[in-house]
Amino acid sequence: MRRIIAGNWKMNGAPGTVTAYAEALRAAPEAAALIVCPPFPLLPGFAAALAGSPVGLGAQDCHASAAGAHTGDVSAVLLKEIGASHVILGHSERRADHGESNAVVNGKVSAALAASLIPIVCVGETEAQRDSGEAEDVVRTQLTHSLPAGFAGIVAYEPIWAIGTGKTPSEADVAAMHGAIRAALVTQFPASGAAITILYGGSVKPSNAASLLGLPDVGGALVGGASLNAADFLAIAAAAPND
Ligand code: PGA
Repeated sequence: MRRIIAGNWKMNGAPGTVTAYAEALRAAPEAAALIVCPPFPLLPGFAAALAGSPVGLGAQDCHASAAGAHTGDVSAVLLKEIGASHVILGHSERRADHGESNAVVNGKVSAALAASLIPIVCVGETEAQRDSGEAEDVVRTQLTHSLPAGFAGIVAYEPIWAIGTGKTPSEADVAAMHGAIRAALVTQFPASGAAITILYGGSVKPSNAASLLGLPDVGGALVGGASLNAADFLAIAAAAPND
Protein backbone atom coordinates (compact mmCIF):
# COMPACT_ATOMS: atom_id res chain seq x y z
CA MET A 1 0.00 0.00 0.00
CA ARG A 2 1.35 3.39 -1.04
CA ARG A 3 1.04 5.69 1.97
CA ILE A 4 -0.52 9.14 1.57
CA ILE A 5 1.41 11.89 3.32
CA ALA A 6 -0.58 15.13 3.49
CA GLY A 7 0.89 18.38 4.80
CA ASN A 8 -1.51 20.77 6.54
CA TRP A 9 0.13 24.19 6.59
CA LYS A 10 -2.76 25.68 8.59
CA MET A 11 -2.47 29.51 8.72
CA ASN A 12 1.25 29.51 7.90
CA GLY A 13 3.44 30.14 4.87
CA ALA A 14 4.03 33.07 2.55
CA PRO A 15 4.17 33.55 -1.23
CA GLY A 16 7.95 33.70 -1.16
CA THR A 17 8.22 30.17 0.25
CA VAL A 18 6.15 28.37 -2.38
CA THR A 19 8.60 27.85 -5.24
CA ALA A 20 11.46 26.40 -3.18
CA TYR A 21 9.10 24.14 -1.24
CA ALA A 22 7.42 22.87 -4.41
CA GLU A 23 10.82 22.25 -6.01
CA ALA A 24 11.93 20.27 -2.95
CA LEU A 25 8.81 18.07 -3.19
CA ARG A 26 9.79 17.03 -6.69
CA ALA A 27 12.49 14.95 -4.97
CA ALA A 28 9.84 13.02 -3.03
CA PRO A 29 10.23 9.24 -2.75
CA GLU A 30 7.92 7.42 -5.16
CA ALA A 31 6.90 5.04 -2.40
CA ALA A 32 4.61 7.71 -0.90
CA ALA A 33 1.94 9.98 -2.39
CA LEU A 34 2.34 13.57 -1.22
CA ILE A 35 -0.33 16.24 -0.85
CA VAL A 36 0.36 19.81 0.25
CA CYS A 37 -2.47 21.88 1.78
CA PRO A 38 -1.49 25.56 2.08
CA PRO A 39 -3.76 28.54 2.89
CA PHE A 40 -6.14 29.59 0.09
CA PRO A 41 -4.04 32.49 -1.32
CA LEU A 42 -1.06 30.18 -1.89
CA LEU A 43 -3.01 27.58 -3.87
CA PRO A 44 -2.60 29.16 -7.34
CA GLY A 45 1.13 29.62 -6.80
CA PHE A 46 1.45 26.00 -5.72
CA ALA A 47 -0.66 24.83 -8.66
CA ALA A 48 1.77 26.54 -11.02
CA ALA A 49 4.89 25.44 -9.15
CA LEU A 50 3.74 21.80 -8.94
CA ALA A 51 2.55 21.56 -12.57
CA GLY A 52 3.53 18.21 -14.03
CA SER A 53 4.48 16.72 -10.66
CA PRO A 54 2.52 13.92 -8.98
CA VAL A 55 2.16 15.94 -5.75
CA GLY A 56 -1.49 16.61 -4.86
CA LEU A 57 -2.76 20.04 -3.85
CA GLY A 58 -5.32 20.47 -1.10
CA ALA A 59 -7.32 23.29 0.45
CA GLN A 60 -8.15 23.38 4.16
CA ASP A 61 -11.89 24.05 3.90
CA CYS A 62 -14.71 24.71 1.44
CA HIS A 63 -18.33 25.85 1.59
CA ALA A 64 -21.26 23.50 1.14
CA SER A 65 -22.68 25.60 -1.71
CA ALA A 66 -21.24 25.88 -5.21
CA ALA A 67 -21.59 29.70 -5.30
CA GLY A 68 -23.59 32.49 -3.75
CA ALA A 69 -23.84 35.08 -0.99
CA HIS A 70 -21.36 33.62 1.53
CA THR A 71 -18.86 36.34 2.33
CA GLY A 72 -15.41 35.03 3.13
CA ASP A 73 -16.11 31.47 2.04
CA VAL A 74 -14.67 29.51 -0.88
CA SER A 75 -16.50 26.92 -2.96
CA ALA A 76 -15.26 23.46 -3.85
CA VAL A 77 -16.01 24.26 -7.50
CA LEU A 78 -13.59 27.19 -7.46
CA LEU A 79 -10.93 25.14 -5.66
CA LYS A 80 -11.17 22.48 -8.34
CA GLU A 81 -10.95 25.10 -11.06
CA ILE A 82 -7.72 26.57 -9.72
CA GLY A 83 -6.05 23.18 -9.55
CA ALA A 84 -6.81 21.66 -6.15
CA SER A 85 -7.24 17.89 -5.98
CA HIS A 86 -8.07 17.51 -2.28
CA VAL A 87 -9.68 19.43 0.57
CA ILE A 88 -9.31 18.92 4.32
CA LEU A 89 -12.74 19.08 5.98
CA GLY A 90 -13.88 18.96 9.59
CA HIS A 91 -10.45 19.60 11.06
CA SER A 92 -10.76 19.92 14.85
CA GLU A 93 -9.50 23.51 14.65
CA ARG A 94 -12.37 24.41 12.32
CA ARG A 95 -14.84 22.45 14.45
CA ALA A 96 -13.61 24.49 17.46
CA ASP A 97 -12.90 27.92 15.90
CA HIS A 98 -15.95 28.01 13.64
CA GLY A 99 -18.40 25.76 15.45
CA GLU A 100 -18.53 23.28 12.59
CA SER A 101 -20.89 20.44 13.50
CA ASN A 102 -20.89 17.00 11.93
CA ALA A 103 -23.89 18.12 9.86
CA VAL A 104 -21.98 21.14 8.52
CA VAL A 105 -19.00 18.96 7.70
CA ASN A 106 -21.31 16.49 5.95
CA GLY A 107 -22.59 19.24 3.64
CA LYS A 108 -19.07 20.33 2.80
CA VAL A 109 -18.00 16.75 2.04
CA SER A 110 -20.93 16.41 -0.37
CA ALA A 111 -19.94 19.65 -2.08
CA ALA A 112 -16.34 18.49 -2.41
CA LEU A 113 -17.41 15.18 -3.93
CA ALA A 114 -19.79 16.95 -6.33
CA ALA A 115 -16.87 19.12 -7.48
CA SER A 116 -14.61 16.06 -7.94
CA LEU A 117 -12.34 17.02 -5.05
CA ILE A 118 -11.12 14.27 -2.73
CA PRO A 119 -12.16 15.15 0.83
CA ILE A 120 -9.86 14.40 3.75
CA VAL A 121 -12.33 14.25 6.63
CA CYS A 122 -10.92 14.66 10.14
CA VAL A 123 -12.23 12.97 13.26
CA GLY A 124 -10.78 12.63 16.75
CA GLU A 125 -11.46 12.82 20.46
CA THR A 126 -10.44 15.26 23.19
CA GLU A 127 -8.17 14.18 26.01
CA ALA A 128 -11.11 14.13 28.44
CA GLN A 129 -13.07 11.88 26.09
CA ARG A 130 -10.12 9.48 25.84
CA ASP A 131 -9.60 9.48 29.61
CA SER A 132 -13.25 8.62 30.17
CA GLY A 133 -13.11 5.72 27.68
CA GLU A 134 -15.39 7.39 25.12
CA ALA A 135 -12.85 7.89 22.32
CA GLU A 136 -14.11 5.19 19.96
CA ASP A 137 -17.75 6.14 20.47
CA VAL A 138 -16.99 9.81 19.79
CA VAL A 139 -15.15 8.97 16.58
CA ARG A 140 -17.85 6.54 15.42
CA THR A 141 -20.48 9.26 15.92
CA GLN A 142 -18.36 11.74 13.94
CA LEU A 143 -18.03 9.23 11.08
CA THR A 144 -21.74 8.40 11.04
CA HIS A 145 -22.79 12.05 10.80
CA SER A 146 -19.88 13.67 8.92
CA LEU A 147 -19.72 11.24 5.99
CA PRO A 148 -22.56 11.40 3.45
CA ALA A 149 -23.97 8.41 1.56
CA GLY A 150 -21.68 7.54 -1.30
CA PHE A 151 -18.60 8.90 0.49
CA ALA A 152 -15.45 8.38 -1.55
CA GLY A 153 -12.46 10.01 0.08
CA ILE A 154 -9.96 9.84 2.90
CA VAL A 155 -10.51 9.80 6.66
CA ALA A 156 -7.93 11.29 9.04
CA TYR A 157 -7.89 10.22 12.69
CA GLU A 158 -6.45 13.09 14.68
CA PRO A 159 -6.72 12.88 18.47
CA ILE A 160 -7.17 16.54 19.42
CA TRP A 161 -4.80 16.27 22.38
CA ALA A 162 -2.00 15.06 20.07
CA ILE A 163 -2.24 18.00 17.63
CA GLY A 164 0.69 20.38 17.95
CA THR A 165 1.57 19.04 21.40
CA GLY A 166 4.37 16.59 20.66
CA LYS A 167 2.25 13.89 22.34
CA THR A 168 1.12 10.84 20.40
CA PRO A 169 -1.08 7.92 21.41
CA SER A 170 0.63 4.59 22.01
CA GLU A 171 1.03 2.35 18.98
CA ALA A 172 -1.57 0.03 20.51
CA ASP A 173 -4.06 2.89 20.84
CA VAL A 174 -3.51 4.06 17.26
CA ALA A 175 -3.92 0.51 15.97
CA ALA A 176 -7.07 -0.01 18.05
CA MET A 177 -8.65 3.24 16.86
CA HIS A 178 -7.79 2.63 13.23
CA GLY A 179 -9.28 -0.85 13.54
CA ALA A 180 -12.45 0.64 15.04
CA ILE A 181 -12.64 3.23 12.25
CA ARG A 182 -12.17 0.50 9.62
CA ALA A 183 -14.99 -1.56 11.15
CA ALA A 184 -17.27 1.49 11.26
CA LEU A 185 -16.50 2.38 7.64
CA VAL A 186 -17.23 -1.18 6.48
CA THR A 187 -20.58 -1.06 8.30
CA GLN A 188 -21.44 2.37 6.91
CA PHE A 189 -20.19 1.70 3.36
CA PRO A 190 -20.34 -2.07 2.78
CA ALA A 191 -19.08 -1.86 -0.82
CA SER A 192 -16.19 0.56 -0.32
CA GLY A 193 -15.41 0.85 3.40
CA ALA A 194 -12.60 -1.71 3.34
CA ALA A 195 -10.66 0.39 0.80
CA ILE A 196 -11.02 3.86 2.33
CA THR A 197 -7.61 5.26 3.33
CA ILE A 198 -7.33 6.18 7.02
CA LEU A 199 -4.57 8.67 7.88
CA TYR A 200 -3.15 9.25 11.34
CA GLY A 201 -2.50 12.86 12.37
CA GLY A 202 -1.17 14.51 15.52
CA SER A 203 2.50 15.29 16.17
CA VAL A 204 3.81 13.14 13.33
CA LYS A 205 7.51 13.87 12.79
CA PRO A 206 10.48 12.17 11.13
CA SER A 207 11.40 10.33 14.34
CA ASN A 208 8.02 8.65 14.88
CA ALA A 209 6.80 8.33 11.28
CA ALA A 210 8.12 4.84 10.54
CA SER A 211 6.48 3.24 13.57
CA LEU A 212 3.14 5.05 13.13
CA LEU A 213 2.99 4.42 9.38
CA GLY A 214 3.71 0.73 9.86
CA LEU A 215 0.65 0.11 12.02
CA PRO A 216 -2.34 -1.83 10.67
CA ASP A 217 -4.93 0.29 8.85
CA VAL A 218 -2.68 3.37 8.92
CA GLY A 219 -2.70 4.42 5.28
CA GLY A 220 -0.63 7.54 5.76
CA ALA A 221 -0.28 10.70 7.79
CA LEU A 222 -1.77 14.17 8.05
CA VAL A 223 1.14 16.31 9.14
CA GLY A 224 0.85 19.82 10.59
CA GLY A 225 3.91 21.50 12.08
CA ALA A 226 6.49 19.16 10.56
CA SER A 227 5.12 19.75 7.05
CA LEU A 228 6.22 23.39 7.11
CA ASN A 229 9.81 22.28 6.66
CA ALA A 230 10.28 20.50 3.31
CA ALA A 231 13.15 18.37 4.60
CA ASP A 232 11.09 17.11 7.56
CA PHE A 233 8.06 16.50 5.35
CA LEU A 234 10.19 14.51 2.90
CA ALA A 235 11.80 12.57 5.76
CA ILE A 236 8.32 11.55 6.96
CA ALA A 237 7.47 10.43 3.41
CA ALA A 238 10.75 8.52 3.18
CA ALA A 239 9.89 6.68 6.41
CA ALA A 240 6.67 5.32 4.92
CA PRO A 241 6.72 1.60 4.21
CA ASN A 242 5.36 0.52 0.84
CA ASP A 243 3.95 -2.90 1.63
P1 PGA B 1 0.55 18.58 14.03
O1 PGA B 1 -0.90 18.89 13.36
O2 PGA B 1 1.27 17.63 13.12
O3 PGA B 1 1.21 19.92 14.12
O4 PGA B 1 0.27 17.96 15.36
C1 PGA B 1 -1.62 17.89 12.69
C2 PGA B 1 -2.92 18.46 12.17
O5 PGA B 1 -3.57 19.23 12.88
O6 PGA B 1 -3.33 18.15 11.03
